[in-house]
Amino acid sequence: MAERLKGKTAIVFGAGSSGPGWGNGKAVAVAFAREGAQVACVDRRAEAAEETAAIIAGEGGSALAIAADVTDQASIEAAVAAVLARFGRIDILHNNVGMTHMGGPVELSEADFQAAIDLNLGSVFRCSKAVIPHMLEGGGGAIVNISSLAAIRWVGYPYFAYYATKAAVNHATVGLAMQYARQGIRANCIMPGLMDTPLIYKQISGQYGSVEEMVAARANSVPLGRMGTAWDIANTAVFLASDEAQFITGVCLPVDGGQSCSVLPVT
Ligand SMILES: NC(=O)c1ccc[n+]([C@@H]2O[C@H](COP(=O)([O-])OP(=O)(O)OC[C@H]3O[C@@H](n4cnc5c(N)ncnc54)[C@H](O)[C@@H]3O)[C@@H](O)[C@H]2O)c1
Repeated sequence: MAERLKGKTAIVFGAGSSGPGWGNGKAVAVAFAREGAQVACVDRRAEAAEETAAIIAGEGGSALAIAADVTDQASIEAAVAAVLARFGRIDILHNNVGMTHMGGPVELSEADFQAAIDLNLGSVFRCSKAVIPHMLEGGGGAIVNISSLAAIRWVGYPYFAYYATKAAVNHATVGLAMQYARQGIRANCIMPGLMDTPLIYKQISGQYGSVEEMVAARANSVPLGRMGTAWDIANTAVFLASDEAQFITGVCLPVDGGQSCSVLPVT
């Protein structure tokens, strides 16, 4: 066990994975624990939260599994109360929950559009509302929001609601960073590029002739020649949450293999 987050308590919303293997939130929760943090693994699906917490416990770390829904303020408040009862403080808030809704304004229903706002942006609002007062009581903390390269680039799919809500997460992060800078809370966000996580096999594989075609097309479009893994996101989140990043706030960091730098494919 390393010690970059020793003595800190983290709450990770969306700490499960939508399929077998490693999603971003699950890897972040485990990576936080490997660096010595006590980790509250929160997920709408109790079994997903429990699976991640069990991995942490199995490695000798300290974890608490909590079922909560980030679209429901009361549920989030109950999760935060459980973390405080168990660990006494919250130093790190990690907002991972987010989802794409395929379609432009013509194809999207009003309900799906509102649901995207409620989940992708509303989760950051609600979890920040619940956690920040306790961070302030504890003398500060670090917030890491998971945005997307889609916040600043077209990523090849008609993701009207996702583009708009992830762009909002970026600037909400800047707003949080500035509002709380003098009170010891830092806020940054990570913009994952094209990732190889269980999520993509559920959400977008239908866009291609085969899964192999999708994987090859995504990898080839990245300057570094591969998709990112959940560990690329987890390593970045550990750094931003740690005191190593104590002079970094308000940053929206692409973790994208260079994709945001290139107009044409790099060969
Ligand atoms: N995987 C990618 O290719 C990619 C690329 C860019 C950005 N992202 C962002 O990464 C984040 C998710 O990545 P992941 O790999 O962890 O996804 P994932 O789907 O594997 O895991 C997300 C977890 O959140 C939980 N969840 C869903 N709705 C919830 C709710 N209302 N309340 C509480 N928990 C809920 C799910 O049960 C799941 O366990 C999202 O914000 C997404 O926009 C992913």
